[in-house]
Formats: sequence, structure tokens, C-alpha cells
Amino acid sequence: MRDRLLALQGEASQEIVDAPNLESLREVKVKYLGKKGEITSVLRGMGSLSAEERPVIGALANDVRSTLSTLIEETEAKLESAKMAEKLANENVDVTLPGKSISIGSLHPINAVIEEVEDIFIGMGFHIAEGPEVETDYFNFEMLNLPKNHPARDMQDSFYISPETLLRTHTSAVQVRSMIDKKGEVPVRVISPGKVYRRDDDDATHSHQFTQIEGLVVDSGVSMSELHGVLLHLIHKLFGEETEVRLRPSYFPFTEPSVEVDIFHPEKGWIEILGAGMVHPSVLEKAGYDAEKYTGFAFGIGAERIAILKYDIDDIRHFYQNDLRFIKQFKSV
Ligand code: FA5
Repeated sequence: MRDRLLALQGEASQEIVDAPNLESLREVKVKYLGKKGEITSVLRGMGSLSAEERPVIGALANDVRSTLSTLIEETEAKLESAKMAEKLANENVDVTLPGKSISIGSLHPINAVIEEVEDIFIGMGFHIAEGPEVETDYFNFEMLNLPKNHPARDMQDSFYISPETLLRTHTSAVQVRSMIDKKGEVPVRVISPGKVYRRDDDDATHSHQFTQIEGLVVDSGVSMSELHGVLLHLIHKLFGEETEVRLRPSYFPFTEPSVEVDIFHPEKGWIEILGAGMVHPSVLEKAGYDAEKYTGFAFGIGAERIAILKYDIDDIRHFYQNDLRFIKQFKSV
């Protein structure tokens, strides 16, 4: 058995050194050292040896194994570096060829506006709320003092999916959902950005699908002057401290009093960017708040109008045509 092991060591060493490449080396390794390899099969005969011979042969077998393993590792390293040297010799790089340019994406300008507005409100202690784009007539209109056949429904011409479901016409539906979620608890301080849909004719300042950012605060002692302060803070952060702001009395069935807010643009003149007001007591009551105890304010900002003014865009439709020549100009935003 001793002779057989030594003979195997000799044969294997030769085959290892002669292996022309890594694949053949792997085959030699399996042939001699593998589970069904030659050395293992010699060791299976150990049972027939005497008790004195067994440890001697065992030690020799280990020696042979480790000698062969070391030789395999060394040969493997040599073959690998030879392979790399050959690869380097054959491959040459033409450094004058143009590189592959990787195009890095950027935020869509409307998303950039949403993120900026979110940051400003998070800084004032607001949370972000979400609501569905396919909304029920109940949350979009009824809970906001707009029962069926109310003339003010004409202010927001709608895309109905069924008599009771529609594509939401404003994010004000999330006001109601947020109050119901809070189950009468105060304070409520949320903003909710999202897409809204109306059967408006598309022109330079109107789109049938656009983006609103709703805001809602409910607490004890919430006042119109606090609403004014919050909106001024927002506008000054977005457009600079010098920006002129105008509040005009307006009408929304779900706020009383109601205002519309315009800002002054040197070329475009006064532009309306949002609607706002004190939450109507009956909206508070329907959503589970005692209107004797609590007051609230709400606002709905048109995100496209903000983007138009901020980035000096002449037509709202640019935001939706996905023309890369337009979109790519906002890389640094
Ligand atoms: C509303 O949608 C109210 N829900 C806003 C509100 C919320 C009032 C909370 C009171 C309390 P209005 O229809 O005016 O209001 O729309 C709000 C803003 O969305 C407008 O000021 C304008 O900036 C923008 N907007 C309205 N219609 C369009 C349109 N078709 N395309 C682009 N932006 C629009």
C-alpha cells in the first residue's frame, strides 16, 4: 500500500506539472484527490492492515495529499498568471474611441416642486398624507358640502367612472380622509400632494390632469391669520422674501371664509396659485370634530402653477409631453 501511494504521488505530480490549462488541472485534481479519486480508493483498503501499519499508512496518505494539494495550488497560480499575460498581450484598448455615456436621470420639475413644498411644510411640523386618485363621490364632494346637484359642482367638471366613483377633481378629498383617520383627535397638520383630474380644456395654464398639494390644520384656536402666515412663509421660501402676494375673497363650499391667493410675476402679472380658507364648521362636524371646540384651515396649491413661475415656463403642456429637450433642462433642480 505504501508503494502504491508513492507511485500515485509520482504519477499525479507529473500530470499536475504537465497540465496545459486550468481545466485539465481540475480534472487531474478530481482524478487523484476527489471523493472517488485514486488516493481515496487506496485508503479504502486500510481495513485489511494491521493495527501497527494503519497509523503509518494514514500519515503517509495525508502527506501525499498535502504535497499534491500544494503542487496543484502552485500550478494553478502559474496557469492563471499565464492566462492573464496572454489576455493582456492579445487585447489592446483603443483609448481614442469615444466612451459609452451614461445618462443620469433627474427629478421631473413637478416632483421637484412637490419635494420642495413638502420640505417646507415638514419644517413647520406637518405630516404627509395620501389618498386614492379614484375617489368616491362621497369624499370628493358630499363630505365637502357639495351634495348632488349643488351648482358649485360645475366648478370642477369631473370624469366619472360610475355614478358613485370618479377621478378625484381635487386633493380636498384627502382633508376628509385625514380627519376621519384621526377620529376627532387634534392637532391635524397634514399636506397631501397628488394628481387630480378635471374636464378642463387644455391651454397654456390649464390641463385636464394636474397636481395639487392639499394642506389641512385642525386644532383649538386655529385662525385665518395663522393661515395667512403659513402661506406667506411658503411663498417667500419658494420665490424669495420680496415676492408680492395677494389674497382675494373667493368661494368654496367647504371653507368659510374662502380666499384665492395670487402672486405677482414681473412679466405674467398676477397668477393664481392656490385656493384656501377656514374649514367650514359643517365639514368639521361631518368628519367627527366638534366645531364649537375646534377650528381649521385648508388650502389647495396648484403645483404646475408654482413650477411655471419658478422655472419661467410658458405653457403647462410642456410638463406632460415628455420631450427630453425640455425635461433635461431640469437636471440641476
Ligand atoms: C380647489 O381645487 C380647492 N379644492 C382648493 C381648496 C382647498 C380651497 C382647500 C379651499 C381649501 P381650485 O379649483 O381653485 O380649488 O384649484 C386650486 C388650484 O389648482 C388653483 O389655484 C390652480 O393653481 C390649480 N388649478 C386649477 N385648475 C387647474 C387646471 N385645469 N390646470 C392646472 N392647474 C389648475
